[in-house]
Amino acid sequence: MTITNPIEVPKSLVPLPCQLVIFGGTGDLAWRKLLPAVYNLNVEGVLPAHFAVVAFGLPAEGPTQADPDEFMRGRARDGIDRFSRRDLDESHWNDFARSLFFVQGSFNDSRAYAQLKAKLDALDQQFGIPGSRVFYLAVPPQVVRPCVEHLREAGMIHDPSEQAAFTRVIVEKPIGRDLDSAREVIRIVGSAFAESQTYRIDHYLGKETVQNLLVLRFANSIFEPLWNEKHIDHVQITVAEEEGLAQYDPNTGAMLSTRAGYYEGVGALRDMVQNHMLQVLCVVAMEPPWSLAPEVVRDAKVGVLNCLRPLTRDDAEKNVVRGQYIEGEVHGQRVTGYRKEVRKSFEAMNRELPPGSVHSTTETFVALKLFVDNWRWAGVPFYLRTGKRLPKRVSEVAIQFKNVPQVLFNSHPDVPLEPTVLSVRVHPEEGLSMRIASKLPGPKIRIYPVKMEFNYSSSFGNKSPEAYERLILDVMAADATLFMRRDQVDAAWKFVMPILDRWEQVRARDLPEYQCGTWGPVEADRIIEPDGRSWRNL
Ligand code: BG6
Repeated sequence: MTITNPIEVPKSLVPLPCQLVIFGGTGDLAWRKLLPAVYNLNVEGVLPAHFAVVAFGLPAEGPTQADPDEFMRGRARDGIDRFSRRDLDESHWNDFARSLFFVQGSFNDSRAYAQLKAKLDALDQQFGIPGSRVFYLAVPPQVVRPCVEHLREAGMIHDPSEQAAFTRVIVEKPIGRDLDSAREVIRIVGSAFAESQTYRIDHYLGKETVQNLLVLRFANSIFEPLWNEKHIDHVQITVAEEEGLAQYDPNTGAMLSTRAGYYEGVGALRDMVQNHMLQVLCVVAMEPPWSLAPEVVRDAKVGVLNCLRPLTRDDAEKNVVRGQYIEGEVHGQRVTGYRKEVRKSFEAMNRELPPGSVHSTTETFVALKLFVDNWRWAGVPFYLRTGKRLPKRVSEVAIQFKNVPQVLFNSHPDVPLEPTVLSVRVHPEEGLSMRIASKLPGPKIRIYPVKMEFNYSSSFGNKSPEAYERLILDVMAADATLFMRRDQVDAAWKFVMPILDRWEQVRARDLPEYQCGTWGPVEADRIIEPDGRSWRNL
C-alpha cells in the first residue's frame, strides 16, 4: 500500500543531543532489546546528530580482559544479529559501533562511577554533546539505590532547572516487588531526580498496536459509542509466551542466557500483570482524555486503576489462578519444567540456587477476573491471562460484544449465534480483526462467522518499530506520555497486593501445574466457565 499524506498530529518535541548510559549494559535486556533498539534508531536516522551510548556494568563471567569497548561492540552485534527486527547492515553497524562504549564496574563501587564520569566527559568532547545524559537503570529494583546514590555523589545529576544540559533517568520495571518496596524505589529515585526527569518504563505502552488502541477508539466514530457496558459482554487480555526462562542456541541447544536470576521468586503476577497487563487494560478502558498532553493522558489512565474493584480475600482465592510449568512439548520439542530450568540456569551462572528454589512456588502463569467499577464498565468482567511455555506466542485484546436478541437469526435456543468479537493483536501478525456473522451463499439461510482483517504488514509493509525504540526516543525528547507516573505504579501495586498476600499465606499449597505447550492449568477455567464464557482459542 502506498501511504500518501497521513494526518500528522503535531508534536513539537525533538530528541536532543545526549549520551544514553545503560546501567545493566551487560544484561539480558540490553543484549536482546535495548542495543538492537538503538541500532534501529540509528538506521532510521532519527537519533540526535550528537549522540553516544555507554554500557555500564560487569560481564556475568567477571571483568573482560579484552578492550572493553570492543567487547561491548561484539556483544551488541551478537544481540542485533539475533534479535533486531532488521538484518545487520555493515555501514549502519560501523556508524553505530563508533558511538558505542563500555565502562566495566560494579554498581556498588564509587571508583567505577569516577571512571564512568571521566569517560562520559571525554565523550562529550569527542561527540560535541553538551553534558546531557539519559541514565537507563536496566537493573533489579534492589540495585536502584546504590546506582542513584553513587550518581548523586559523583555529581552526575544536573538540576532540572539547568538550561544547558539535562539529566533524565529511565527506571525499568518491575518497580519494587510489592507496594512498600515500590514506594521505596520511587522515593529513592525521587530524592535525586525531579518527577519531570523521571521516566518509568513499561514497554507495552510503546508497542505500536497498544498505541493504536487509542487511535482506534478515538479516531473512528463507530467504536466509541459501543465501548461500554451496554454493548460489551466482556474483555479478554492475553499475553502468551512460548519461551521459558532461558534463551537457547537453536542449533546446539546450549543455554545462551537466562533470566532465572531475576524471575525466580518474582513470578508472572509481578513480572507481567502488575505492569504490562494493567497498563494495557488502562488503554482499553480509559475515558477519552481531553487532550494528548502527557499529564492529561496519564490522568485518564490512572483513572482506570483507581476504579478497579479491590479484591477481597475471597476474590483473590476465587478469581485468581496461578500455575507453574512442568516438562512438556512446545512445537514438538521436549522442554524442561520450571524448577529444573531454574536449577540449570543457576548452574550455568555459577551461582548458588536461592534457598527454597528446589521446590520453587514461583508462578509462571496467572489468570484473573477483575472489574472496573465505573459508569462505563459497570458489571463487565475483564479476564486477564498470561504465562510462559504456552503453546504459542500471542498477545491480544479481545472485545466481545453482547449477542443479538434471541429472535430472527438467533432464535435457536440450543445453537446461539457466535457474538461479534473485535480482536486487537499485539503480536504476532500485528493488526486487528472483527468476527462477524455472515450468510453463507446459497438458497438456504445459513449463518457463518467470518473475519474482517487489518494487518500491519500487508497494509504498511516493514516490521513495526520495537516499543523500546519509540520509548528511548521519547525520553530524549522529554515526552512522558507513554511512561508510568508514580500514582499509576502505586495504584497498580495496590490492586495486586491482596493476591500476593493471599499467596504468601498458602505459599506451598495449591500451586497448580501445567505441561509446557498447554494453555495453563485446567483450574484457570473455573474463573470464566461458571460465568457461561470460555477462554478464547488462540
Ligand atoms: C518483560 C518481562 O517485561 O516482558 C518478560 O519481564 C516478558 O518476562 C517480556 O517475556 C515480554 O515482552 P514482549 O515485548 O516480548 O511481549
